Amino acid sequence: MVAQEEESSCWKPNHLNHQHFLNICPKLFFPTLHTTTTTTIMKLAVFSAKPYDKKYLSAAAPSHVELTYHDVALTPKTAALLSDGEADAICAFVNDQLPAEVLESVHAKGVRAILMRCAGFNNVDLDRADQLGLFVAHVPAYSPEAVAEFAVALIQTINRKTHRAYIRVREGNFALDGLLGRTLHGKTVGLIGTGRIGIAFARIMRGYGCRLLAYDPYQSKAFEEYGEYTSLENLIPQSDIISLHCPLTDQTRHIISESTLALLKPGAMLVNTSRGGLIDTRAAIQALKTRKLAGLALDVYEAEGALFYDDHSGDIIEDDELMRLMTFPNVVVCGHQAFFTEEALTEIAECTIRNLEDFANGRECKHALVKLKQKPEEVAAENGNAKVPDHRPIAHQDSLPVRTV
Ligand SMILES: NC(=O)c1ccc[n+]([C@@H]2O[C@H](COP(=O)([O-])OP(=O)(O)OC[C@H]3O[C@@H](n4cnc5c(N)ncnc54)[C@H](O)[C@@H]3O)[C@@H](O)[C@H]2O)c1
Repeated sequence: MVAQEEESSCWKPNHLNHQHFLNICPKLFFPTLHTTTTTTIMKLAVFSAKPYDKKYLSAAAPSHVELTYHDVALTPKTAALLSDGEADAICAFVNDQLPAEVLESVHAKGVRAILMRCAGFNNVDLDRADQLGLFVAHVPAYSPEAVAEFAVALIQTINRKTHRAYIRVREGNFALDGLLGRTLHGKTVGLIGTGRIGIAFARIMRGYGCRLLAYDPYQSKAFEEYGEYTSLENLIPQSDIISLHCPLTDQTRHIISESTLALLKPGAMLVNTSRGGLIDTRAAIQALKTRKLAGLALDVYEAEGALFYDDHSGDIIEDDELMRLMTFPNVVVCGHQAFFTEEALTEIAECTIRNLEDFANGRECKHALVKLKQKPEEVAAENGNAKVPDHRPIAHQDSLPVRTV
């Protein structure tokens, strides 16, 4: 960070081409900004910060972005840890909680932007953010292949039982009984959701020689290259493997329920790398007990917020449903790691910083979840640079067929 002696009342970052620079006073966006003649310091408080977040965000941040890291998740209780003026923006992750009370609390302390370093934003009250004039952005796509490849890894784990083979062989047990799997070539794979990750997954499964079916209320030409669309009711009884790639919304919560599980083809396996709330866990346990469901691989879990991303190996875990799930030999549970590749972490960090810079510079941000009512240049022209642009939520973006592939 280049320390400058003099403070200016209005902000003019030196790294911008002045032609594109929108002459909007930054103190309207970020009241706590510390400005200098040549540099504007932006203060970004990162919650749920793990060592890998610190490494990748610190590498991506330019010198005028000051990072502070909070190891704890952002919740109504921990929001109090943020001190007045500590941050212009907050960076949060999948299991942070940003309901109205958290947004109000951080807004009152000077926060003007919420940067989700993930694709999902079901944990943010966007309407309240809009009312408060808070900018919210996310990272919509960071290596969809990373998640798709992990979904395939999970399928082959429960199919070929490599999780059991690994333990057996370490104990000198080379018997094959109980490890019998099925050849995937020629099997039917049902996708629920054909967005970025769904398409990447479809491409891989097509390579295996599988027949692909998909259910998505917003159909995509891209998927038609790999398989055919059908209804959920048709997809479930025909699929040997069902893989979930839709977001968690009011419409998709418990899309896998007692009634959908009742339609399963005998021997079918289910994989969830999307969001835990898509599956009714109790119904899944019941379907495993009755042998209706032959295998279950989860990277995400309905009540993961209380456990995932932290070491609970020395704790008594009170979640009986999760513990019951882990007793089944045909269930594999991972701790929400499908995204976790070097490439994805780099893109997440860089995109998060780009989103912050877009907002701070008054540029239109293509990853915004609330949108400027007017273009920044129009606001600047009309108001002599004196008005903060209003925001409006981008309705239902999470369920729109946004595609880059
Ligand atoms: N496990 C991980 O590490 C990880 C990482 C990234 C994303 N995810 C999850 O994966 C999900 C998918 O990500 P993406 O990048 O492909 O999102 P996307 O927005 O590109 O695609 C989502 C697709 O779901 C479809 N959809 C919406 N409502 C539906 C419904 N009712 N039934 C079926 N399909 C529906 C949409 O039309 C869209 O095609 C995300 O929402 C997120 O929850 C998980």
